[in-house]
Amino acid sequence: MTFHKGGDAARRAPDVLIIGAGAAGLMAAFTAARRGRRVVVLDHAPEVGRKILISGGGRCNFTNLDMRPERFISQNRHFARSALSRYKPAQFLELLAAHNIPWHEKKLGQLFCDHSARDIVQMLLAECAAAHVTILTDVRITDVKKPLDFHVETSAGTFTSKALVLATGGLSIPKLGATSFSYTIARSFGLPVISPEPALVPLVFGQAQESWVQTLAGVSLPVRASCGKVGFDEALLFTHRGLSGPALLQISSYWQPGEPVRINLLPGEDLNALLAGLKKAKGQMKGPAALSRWLPQRLAQELARQGAPEDRPVVEWPDRTLRALADRVHRLDLHPTGTEGFAKAEVTRGGVDTHALSSKTMEANTVPNLYVIGEAADVTGWLGGYNFHWAWASGHAAGEAL
Ligand code: FDA
Repeated sequence: MTFHKGGDAARRAPDVLIIGAGAAGLMAAFTAARRGRRVVVLDHAPEVGRKILISGGGRCNFTNLDMRPERFISQNRHFARSALSRYKPAQFLELLAAHNIPWHEKKLGQLFCDHSARDIVQMLLAECAAAHVTILTDVRITDVKKPLDFHVETSAGTFTSKALVLATGGLSIPKLGATSFSYTIARSFGLPVISPEPALVPLVFGQAQESWVQTLAGVSLPVRASCGKVGFDEALLFTHRGLSGPALLQISSYWQPGEPVRINLLPGEDLNALLAGLKKAKGQMKGPAALSRWLPQRLAQELARQGAPEDRPVVEWPDRTLRALADRVHRLDLHPTGTEGFAKAEVTRGGVDTHALSSKTMEANTVPNLYVIGEAADVTGWLGGYNFHWAWASGHAAGEAL
């Protein structure tokens, strides 16, 4: 527990009570407190910002230089636009500079800490301390009512406040203490919740005809993975349960059960033309050897087993075999049977319906002074720092309005 200013009475009746001391909650807390609001943050975990600490392999991919509203998924398509336009990656970088936190770009505009994600948590805590935010950890919330102000019953007693901010994040990684708290409270105040589903999550294959996918566990290659009109050019990883890697994680946020995922295993090339070139040159190599010129060997072997007359050299293949093989490599339709679930999901798709919130302030349209920020709301970013940026931007938007 951290106490910063004022006696017990002031602590129990702040202007703003925030539930959830994660990325969004802490950003909203010091933004509002800098504006003179008395802010208390409650969290049930023993320490704050646990998801920040484990993020980005311990280095936290805290934002992305290529920030665009189209990189966020929501049933309310343009909802994120306003908050994102008022809190840019450059503003977060200014904050890092003020705390002397070094960072670097890894790829595709993704920014990571040079040292450790702990730098980000310490920075947020330092900003909260400087603005006299009170943060209480290990607090269990048992009831929320709103006779006039909000009354919040907890294992640390009752808190009352004019404004309540729901910032408890999504359902991913339950072992870190993820709960449906924000959804339950939002529903109790009449706000709709879009069904929360795992996103940025590996896909699994249970069907016998696609069991070959699992036999390639460990194979990785650059692909284009698509679902409907959306596609990502990134790495694909075959796993013991199915498919993972950045391309697949990205597409999982768009995938709906029953839909196929289309994989182009050789994007930017024309395999039919490449094989025709080999044939013209009187290529004596057989299927696996021919395909392994452009694809990882184990994958080449498997594809040759499925679609090429292995025991004959390329020069003897009929053109239709070349075309069929090329077609399979460029348009491989796979049918996932599910995902690895919230235990392995990086984020949650769905959440409190943003049609019920103000895009400017994150306040509920029908419940004055109730705010929903961060992943608890139905806004899901792409892989690559977008989800933390949504936490900062939505926390900042609420903090400016509280
Ligand atoms: P967040 O989950 O951060 O915080 C919620 C807080 O509420 C927690 O402190 C929790 O203890 C508390 N809480 C929950 N239920 C409660 C209850 N009932 N009572 C009281 N408190 C409660 N994103 C990104 O942009 N770059 C990255 O590198 C990564 N990497 C990454 C790795 C892994 C393994 C995961 C699981 C996730 C990521 N993410 C990510 C996603 C990112 O972590 C996530 O989107 C943000 O943390 C969301 O911030 P919030 O503040 O909304 O929730």
